[in-house]
Amino acid sequence: MRRIGVGIIGCGYISQAYMNAMKLFPVIDLKAVADMRADAAAERGREFGVPALGIGELLKRDDIEIVVNLTVPLAHVDVSLAVLEAGKHVHSEKPLGVTVAEARKVMELAARRGLRVGCAPDTFLGGGHQTARKLIDEGAIGTPVAGTAVFGCPGHERWHPAPAFYYLRGGGPMLDMGPYYITDLIQLLGPIASVMGTAAMPRRQRTVGKGPLEGTSIPVEVATHVAGVLEFVSGAVVSIMTSFDVPKHKHTPIEIYGTAGSLLVPDPNRFGGEVQLARPGGEWETQPLSHGNTEGQLRSIGVADMAAAITAGRAHRASGALALHALEAMEAFQQSSDEGRRVKLETTVERPAMIPAGLPLGQMD
Ligand SMILES: NC(=O)c1ccc[n+]([C@@H]2O[C@H](COP(=O)([O-])OP(=O)(O)OC[C@H]3O[C@@H](n4cnc5c(N)ncnc54)[C@H](O)[C@@H]3O)[C@@H](O)[C@H]2O)c1
Repeated sequence: MRRIGVGIIGCGYISQAYMNAMKLFPVIDLKAVADMRADAAAERGREFGVPALGIGELLKRDDIEIVVNLTVPLAHVDVSLAVLEAGKHVHSEKPLGVTVAEARKVMELAARRGLRVGCAPDTFLGGGHQTARKLIDEGAIGTPVAGTAVFGCPGHERWHPAPAFYYLRGGGPMLDMGPYYITDLIQLLGPIASVMGTAAMPRRQRTVGKGPLEGTSIPVEVATHVAGVLEFVSGAVVSIMTSFDVPKHKHTPIEIYGTAGSLLVPDPNRFGGEVQLARPGGEWETQPLSHGNTEGQLRSIGVADMAAAITAGRAHRASGALALHALEAMEAFQQSSDEGRRVKLETTVERPAMIPAGLPLGQMD
């Protein structure tokens, strides 16, 4: 098997999870890391035994084919454009950009250069979500007609050491957590036709709860409670809520209702989890998982899939086109709220192919 050289730009909180998970995928050959904070790159480099380089230096390396962009949302587009300009494929953390207009620039440059764009989340490639997909495709719940998707928490400032970005342009619960839910819904139900939403900003300030900045006040620039409806091209209608204003709740993450049954889909921020199915009037029954990739933290499986796709000459699953469609839907909630109307989406995307059932951990084809 040809291994693909990978570099990382952005050595903050989530980079550790990525670098740990990369060890599980033999197709990934991690070559170097970089960050605008040289000390952050040096620390990760030491921890994982890879060189810490300047950003320009990393982009010049001939042995790096994919660069993983783990910077903060506001930097995603500039960093991804620089990666593509350097002639390398890019896999970005989510969102692809903080606006559809900016994210389109990444897709357009990649198309001009014949390069690939991938984007988080890749949790939908986990066994819990692939199992749900297989059940839906096999008709286990008949035709999907409706569903719910719910994320609510009190805010990431309780645990993240530098949470300001969650409340600035490009942050908020829809752009931060919506990608997990909406990407999974697209892989389960297909593309979205239109969106209706209401977006609220109940507090103008939040307080950092942990770390060196504990007690510091941070400004809120974006809506922190977003509720609405996704109308799919298939006709399915999904009610969604994403919120940083929920002290605690008891909703399940994703439920899909079909003409012949209901499906409980596990937390789309995780790879595994329980899939349950019920027929009309029946009890919930836990379904055996048809797919692996369920254990722990597998962030970078999307990068592994892109690397495997490069060697196999096939499409990768956690694609920029999927992320752009999800981003357009997420942006449309605010637009719908501001304008008091249903927003029709301009982009569309095909559902990414299901992973073959029964593959061992680390293998994508
Ligand atoms: N924290 C999480 O649990 C989590 C989970 C999933 C996804 N994410 C996503 O991962 C991304 C990073 O999150 P994080 O929590 O690691 O943030 P972080 O602030 O801890 O780390 C971001 C890193 O990027 C660097 N950076 C910022 N702009 C840069 C630029 N222009 N060039 C080079 N380096 C730059 C910063 O110096 C920092 O080291 C975000 O998009 C976030 O939404 C985070």
